[in-house]
Amino acid sequence: MRIFVTGGAGFIGSQFIRDIIHRFPSAEVINFDKLTYAGNLSNLASVESAPNYRFYRGDICDSEALFEAIPRECDAIVHFAAESHVDRSIHGAREFVLTNVLGTQTLLDAARARKVGRFLHISTDEVGGSMGPDQWLREDSPLDPRSPYAASKAAAEHLVRAAGATFGLDYAITRTSNNYGPFQFPEKLLPLAICNLLDGQTVPVYGDGLQVRDWIHVEDNCRALIEVLLSGRAGQTYHIGGGQPRTNREALGAVLEALNMPETMLTHISDRPGHDRRYAVDFTKTSSELHWAPEISFERGIQRTVRWYAENRDWVNAVRSGHYLNYYREHYGIAPRTEARVA
Ligand code: NAD
Ligand code: DAU
Repeated sequence: MRIFVTGGAGFIGSQFIRDIIHRFPSAEVINFDKLTYAGNLSNLASVESAPNYRFYRGDICDSEALFEAIPRECDAIVHFAAESHVDRSIHGAREFVLTNVLGTQTLLDAARARKVGRFLHISTDEVGGSMGPDQWLREDSPLDPRSPYAASKAAAEHLVRAAGATFGLDYAITRTSNNYGPFQFPEKLLPLAICNLLDGQTVPVYGDGLQVRDWIHVEDNCRALIEVLLSGRAGQTYHIGGGQPRTNREALGAVLEALNMPETMLTHISDRPGHDRRYAVDFTKTSSELHWAPEISFERGIQRTVRWYAENRDWVNAVRSGHYLNYYREHYGIAPRTEARVA
């Protein structure tokens, strides 16, 4: 099995690569990543010397680089690379359109040229928009993205389906709910909260904090992604959820409890513009077809995640100070980028 992974230096992509390398020692993994602020090669320190792992620095908008990096007889592309943070897309959508839309089309073209076996496209429950109190997003629900990030991810999905219909590309699309776990960049709610609290700082809560997200541990997500990659039907969309909806206040309450800290550490601030109230994916199809279910309860997952951040202060400090950028130079001889912004 030869797998070309995009965005493998990010949070979910690096978990996926660590899992593949450990579970399938004979699989060959090529990690293609631009190393934006969100890409951190130290996330892959445990596998970087494995004989079946290779890193290639490149941009998915660069068709020549892709053509050079995608090997012949490539069984699958697993496409994680994206600009992934909603707040950043509100401040500036351009990079989101470039990477998430143009980059996905460029990768689809390269996949076709290289006759890649399967294209696994990683999408998000946000493409369905904000759900009402009793509403569930199903695989055939209409798309209603409401942030620039979600709109760019919805556009990418359309391009993947178009490549399937027009050129017969073998693809599968996954839509996952909110992931959490180790190595998540501390701009997203839970790692931001944990890192702030460990530093004795308060946590910003947008609006009333009653928005609902369905939290899934990244290990559960990656188990599902591997099932879809190996056994999902071509041309299908699969939902992956944690089945553990929590309001943001409830989710933060679990973090406070794990750290034995009071509610006064939460500070309400003005709301995110266009803030989606609730996400809710129905993942019945994935469970019944692929015999997958999430296994890590939110409370246990939070305990583990808080412990991971507490025990990996070097990782956190390197990210927050920007020193993680030096990892590239020290380990790969690549100069750190000057344009990177840090949390
Ligand atoms: P992340 O921001 O942690 O990582 C993104 C990775 O993509 C980084 O390593 C970055 O360097 C790389 N990248 C960005 N632009 C690139 C480009 N032009 N070319 C090559 N590489 C590039 O993201 P994540 O949280 O790990 O999310 C991974 C994927 O999963 C994304 O497609 C995201 O939309 C999707 N997703 C995430 C969540 C979540 O909760 N985090 C939930 C559902 C879906
Ligand atoms: O649902 C899947 C999506 O989950 C992924 O596609 C995205 O890539 C990922 O970033 C995530 O999007 P969210 O906007 O849901 O995640 P975020 O961690 O940014 O915010 C979670 C909730 O917490 C949301 O309601 C906004 C709120 N929030 C967030 C931050 C960063 C706060 O209240 N305070 C904060 O400081």
